[in-house]
Amino acid sequence: MKLIIASNNKGKIREYKQLLEPLGYSVVSQSEAGINIEVEETGTTFAENSALKARAIYDISKCAVLADDSGLEIDALNGEPGVYSARYGGCTNDADRVSLVLSKLKDVPEEKRTAHFVCTIHFIAHNGEEIAVEGRVYGSIGYSPIGDNGFGYDPIFMYDGKSFAQIAPEEKNSVSHRANALKALVQKLTQKESIG
Ligand code: IMP
Repeated sequence: MKLIIASNNKGKIREYKQLLEPLGYSVVSQSEAGINIEVEETGTTFAENSALKARAIYDISKCAVLADDSGLEIDALNGEPGVYSARYGGCTNDADRVSLVLSKLKDVPEEKRTAHFVCTIHFIAHNGEEIAVEGRVYGSIGYSPIGDNGFGYDPIFMYDGKSFAQIAPEEKNSVSHRANALKALVQKLTQKESIG
C-alpha cells in the first residue's frame, strides 16, 4: 500500500522507508507522489502542525499519509525555541540560531541547561483513520558548538557526554526523538494488524 511522507527530505524518507516498508507500505516522498503544495505550519503545537500537514495531503491524495513536526525545547527558556525551532529569533541559518540559544543561556549553570528534542508524527491510513504519536530524547545544551555531523541544533545538544553532531548518524537515528516517535507508530500499526 502506498504511503506518502509529507516531506522531500532525503534523510527522513530513508529512515521512514527502513521502518515502514517491512510492514507492507511502499514509501514515497511528497514530490514522488506529485504533490507540490507547501502547507503553512500555523499550529501552536508540534501535534497541530503535523496533523495540519497530514490532513492537507490526505485531502488531495486520499492515500495513506505520514507527516511529522519537530523541534528543540529548552527548560531554562520556558520551552523555547519550541515550534519556532526552524525560524528562531528570525535567524535565517542554523549557525545564527545556535548562537542565539548560547547567548540566551550564557548565565545558566550546567544543572539548569536541560533540554529535549520532540517529534510528533501524524499518520492517516488509506481509510481516513488517524494515529498521532510523539517521541522525545532528553539531554542538555553545551557551551559551544561541537562536531560536524547532523544539522540544526545538533552541535549544542549534549547526549551521553557527546553532542548529537559528534556521533554517527546511525547512532543518532537509534536514539533520536524521530526514531522514538517512529517506534511508537510502528508499535501502534503492528498492534492494529494483529487485532485484524
Ligand atoms: P522540521 O520538523 O524538519 O520542520 O524541523 C524543525 C526544526 O527543528 C529544524 O529546522 C531544526 O532547527 C530543529 N530540529 C528538529 N530535529 C532536529 C534534530 O534532530 N537535530 C537538530 N535540530 C533539529
